[in-house]
Amino acid sequence: MNIFEALRVSHETQRALSARLLASLSDTPERDRVFKELKLELKAHEIAEERCFYVPLFAHDVTVDPSRHAIAEHHEIDEMVEDIEELASGSSSWPEAAKKLTHKIEHHLTEEEHKFFQEAGKVLTESQKLSLAKEYEAEFLTQRLKPA
Ligand SMILES: [Fe+2]
Ligand SMILES: [Fe+2]
Repeated sequence: MNIFEALRVSHETQRALSARLLASLSDTPERDRVFKELKLELKAHEIAEERCFYVPLFAHDVTVDPSRHAIAEHHEIDEMVEDIEELASGSSSWPEAAKKLTHKIEHHLTEEEHKFFQEAGKVLTESQKLSLAKEYEAEFLTQRLKPA
């Protein structure tokens, strides 16, 4: 498995959780459970992806801007998650805020997969693509298993 395939595994998990969140908006206990899982998944992925993908990409001039852009989006996603957490459970804004979050996530994943992965593919060596996948998987697991 290379780093792109490893990152896509997490991306598919986020897509599945986003779909489950949208499908459970009228079921508050289920919605809250899925939201919490999505939050933990996003957090672990962002940290591991920044450490094991974007940090190595900062070594190359052509991938500095895409890396900055992606990390800024991680921050925006984190703020959207925090804003949702601050809403009262019965708030009428909750479903709309959750929809906006899932749109933002999909935008981010698509941009990474269709743009940044291609750019990264040109600067990372074949052995880096393999070793970064292992580093990503280990870091992701470490982060994911941390108590919330
Ligand atoms: Fe990302
Ligand atoms: Fe990602």
